[in-house]
Amino acid sequence: MQIAILVTHIRPEEKLLVEAFRARGIEPDIILDRDANIDLTAGGEQIAPSGRPWADYAVVLERCVSTSRGMYLQAILNAWGIETINSYATAAVCADKLLTTLALARAGIAQPNARVAFDEASTLAALEDLTYPAVLKPVTGSWGRLLARVDDRNAAESIIEHRQTLGSYTHHTFYAQEYIDKPGRDIRAFVVGDETICAIYRTSPHWITNTARGGTASNCPVTPELNDLCLRAARAVGGGVLALDVFEDPSRGLSINEINHTMEFRNSSAPTGVNIAERVVNYAIQTAQARVESAQ
Ligand SMILES: Nc1ncnc2c1ncn2[C@@H]1O[C@H](COP(=O)(O)OP(=O)(O)OP(=O)(O)O)[C@@H](O)[C@H]1O
Ligand SMILES: [Mg+2]
Repeated sequence: MQIAILVTHIRPEEKLLVEAFRARGIEPDIILDRDANIDLTAGGEQIAPSGRPWADYAVVLERCVSTSRGMYLQAILNAWGIETINSYATAAVCADKLLTTLALARAGIAQPNARVAFDEASTLAALEDLTYPAVLKPVTGSWGRLLARVDDRNAAESIIEHRQTLGSYTHHTFYAQEYIDKPGRDIRAFVVGDETICAIYRTSPHWITNTARGGTASNCPVTPELNDLCLRAARAVGGGVLALDVFEDPSRGLSINEINHTMEFRNSSAPTGVNIAERVVNYAIQTAQARVESAQ
């Protein structure tokens, strides 16, 4: 059974995944996204940079840092009938905060109020509708970059002008969320298949609590309520291996902020005591085995 891992470069997460595969007696092929040179009009019989036909892989684990490379490779492999974790369909929704909001709304899952507008006047109106403070975010992006907490109309006007003048076209979509008055932390929960395997609190004096921005990680118990919310949210975007950002609102309870489809987890195994790489690898092997059996 052949398994490949698609990477931009090897991060601590990919090292842990390779070790976990080896512990299960599998040597995965590592394929660098920069080595791809793919005939789009041919199929999966063509040779991958690993020297094997793509179609030999029972499953391909997508771990690219580059969202666009990862997503196009998923689209190509899925078009050829090759299973990826996650699927292109899931990645396409999760990579875009607006599409995630729509998918969660359709499934009736609790989330912060969110609006979209495309020019200055309508964005100011959207922010008034949400009431200040509100949060403006790029629809794509991560590590808390270019997030803006907008406390009043003056701040909103200048952020909108900066975005319109200096931003690329993705910054001309104004996705705004109500500001949730979190208790100094949010929750990052990890879903693998049908289980919320663990969760951490990310605590920070700053309103942006990402560990990449200095938030500290500690164990968050997976209550039945948290598990249920996370599994329903994961299902709403197509399921797989996902990291969900969850807010605790003092009055309204838990809600889903966003869902990440190529998750980092280096800081989360120690506080939770859960070997996340091992769980992801078990799921990948299970998926691959099901695939091999259904092909026989
Ligand atoms: N509406 C909000 N109300 C309160 N805090 C927020 C809100 N939106 C974001 N935050 C804070 O900012 C952090 C980053 O926001 P978000 O996860 O939406 O952005 P990101 O850049 O995609 O991050 P990631 O690296 O998780 O992909 C959240 O974890 C949370 O701490
Ligand atoms: Mg996030």
